[in-house]
Amino acid sequence: MGLTGLHSRNMTLIMFGGKGGVGKTCNASAAAIALAKSCTTLIISTDPAHSLSDCFQQQIGTGVHPISGVDNLSATEISAEHAYAEFIRMHKKELLELFDTSTSLDEEDAELLLKLTIPGIDEIMSFKTIVDFIESGSFEKYVVDMAPSGHALRLISSPAVLDQWIKAAARMRWKYRYMVTRFSGTYQQDGADYLLVNLKKTVKKIDKLFRDYTRSEFIPVCIPEAMSNAETGRLVSSLSDFGITVKQLIINNVMESVGDCIFCKERKKGQKKHIERIEETYPNLNKVRIPLFAHEISGLDRLIEVSRYLFSPEEMDKMQIFQSESSEKPNKDEGV
Ligand SMILES: Nc1ncnc2c1ncn2[C@@H]1O[C@H](COP(=O)(O)OP(=O)(O)OP(=O)(O)O)[C@@H](O)[C@H]1O
Ligand SMILES: [Mg+2]
Repeated sequence: MGLTGLHSRNMTLIMFGGKGGVGKTCNASAAAIALAKSCTTLIISTDPAHSLSDCFQQQIGTGVHPISGVDNLSATEISAEHAYAEFIRMHKKELLELFDTSTSLDEEDAELLLKLTIPGIDEIMSFKTIVDFIESGSFEKYVVDMAPSGHALRLISSPAVLDQWIKAAARMRWKYRYMVTRFSGTYQQDGADYLLVNLKKTVKKIDKLFRDYTRSEFIPVCIPEAMSNAETGRLVSSLSDFGITVKQLIINNVMESVGDCIFCKERKKGQKKHIERIEETYPNLNKVRIPLFAHEISGLDRLIEVSRYLFSPEEMDKMQIFQSESSEKPNKDEGV
């Protein structure tokens, strides 16, 4: 059985995560190629060590780049540093206003503070960039190739971190507003207030999207090995703590026919044990097996080969059917 439900019209954000090196980028890219058959798709890499360019054998980088050879598919590699610099550039006035009215920092100190790297800002900025892409509504599907688990979980938790920051800033603003109203009788909302309100709206929307299993899905990728199994367990339970229910997972690098090779037989035997454990641990999840290929997965032909394992022929058919009905676009009014 292959991955299911991803072609459904509401499904917007599809994230692939897991331990380092298990095949997240390859499987996310292969899934994006298949989805692009019926829907305009953007594949986004949030891993600071981007490898989409290597996987597609095409130069990608920041900005939206159409993938040559695949209609309807574009890709982007998020630079958190670039996104942060852009955020500061766009909102410098409001941020300085915020510091000026809510802290005792002078302008020089506030400017200095804006230049510093804030812990956790990378994930917040990656997350904000994804939100901005989704809000632009330019694509129907957003496939995210996540960095290894720890980074992915920090990204998922970034709405909560950002929310705490907004609450603290709003509390300081409230004191300022109280003083202004007290002395001048009225208070006129300014740019800093609007920035906080808009950030709050963004946080609410993405939080709702993450928790709405009809519109977003997190697909863990694992390999049949003990360390990967252990990390998948931690990932699935941490996601559940965030209100994200995992419905299906990919078991990558599964050894199939091994012939007479003693080494391969031994490896396959070892894998069998771990696959059984995965089956027992997640009886209710849809588990998709991808074979260990003799070659690396790089370039369109190899990725298309993987996509044939990711989706069953019936699911592929459904995607084609959807394509012929593509005049019916998903409802963009819902926003993120
Ligand atoms: N099923 C497979 N068969 C053979 N090689 C594979 C398979 N899946 C992935 N690979 C290879 O394994 C390597 C790692 O794959 P990939 O980059 O997709 O992993 P990743 O989880 O994204 O890694 P990272 O954590 O470094 O981002 C690549 O060289 C890729 O070509
Ligand atoms: Mg990767």
